[in-house]
Amino acid sequence: MTLLAVDDLVVRYGAIEALRGVSLHVDEGEIVGLIGANGAGKSTTMNSILGVVRPVRGTITYRGEPLLGKPPEAIIRKGIAPTMEGRRIFPSLTVEENLRLGAAIRSDRQQIQADIDRWCAFFPILGQRLQQPAGNLSGGQQQMLAVARALMSNPKLLLMDEPSLGLAPLLVAEVFRLITQLRDLGVTILLVEQNVRMTLEIADRAYLLNTGRVEFSGTPAEILQHADIEQAYLGGGKSSRPASAPMGAPLT
Ligand SMILES: Nc1ncnc2c1ncn2[C@@H]1O[C@H](COP(=O)(O)OP(=O)(O)OP(=O)(O)O)[C@@H](O)[C@H]1O
Ligand SMILES: [Mg+2]
Repeated sequence: MTLLAVDDLVVRYGAIEALRGVSLHVDEGEIVGLIGANGAGKSTTMNSILGVVRPVRGTITYRGEPLLGKPPEAIIRKGIAPTMEGRRIFPSLTVEENLRLGAAIRSDRQQIQADIDRWCAFFPILGQRLQQPAGNLSGGQQQMLAVARALMSNPKLLLMDEPSLGLAPLLVAEVFRLITQLRDLGVTILLVEQNVRMTLEIADRAYLLNTGRVEFSGTPAEILQHADIEQAYLGGGKSSRPASAPMGAPLT
């Protein structure tokens, strides 16, 4: 079932046309990657879905219902949760307080403690630091807190904007592993990433944005066969694996 459908979205910032007719969809249970260079329009797409940016043309529907024109709070209440670029946690609040803020829109108050326990089991480091100021966490730990806080709203659809940004390689691998585990728990994920290699390893499908347009979309295997991707995004050249190699094969 299609959870989210974006059709022919156009966004302008003054004279800059940031999105020039972007269409994409996310089916229930999928990890969908949104990849592309700096300035391609990835965050603008996310912010349009969240009601933070107002498109001049196009439609956005969530479970068949139009989202465009609705305020961000109404959109979040429908079960769409953002984790944004540069992890916006509240550093002076404790880890637990940050998690509870994520649940602020929920009405099932008695379930909240159970979910704190659940996500602390999933992210043990957060469980160990519940009463400490979130600002004391390392960058990677803050990133996990940002994801856990988004999960506290009990979302159907998680919009992740560059969750691996600024993380050391080991933590990047950890974050991507967590993303696949979340999908296995039934959370649908739209994942914006600069880390194209890792994204294509975990995504079910992906869209390649180029200066405000979808240049290519398909399964990771299809995208890797696309002529330019190796060159443009994987630092590629002749060392690329053959297009027919299985997905699990190393990309060296
Ligand atoms: N608030 C804004 N005002 C003016 N121009 C903007 C604004 N936000 C984004 N832009 C421009 O819109 C285009 C798309 O930006 P966007 O942030 O969506 O790209 P992105 O794909 O998320 O890039 P990055 O990978 O660097 O985060 C860029 O040219 C950017 O300079
Ligand atoms: Mg961005």
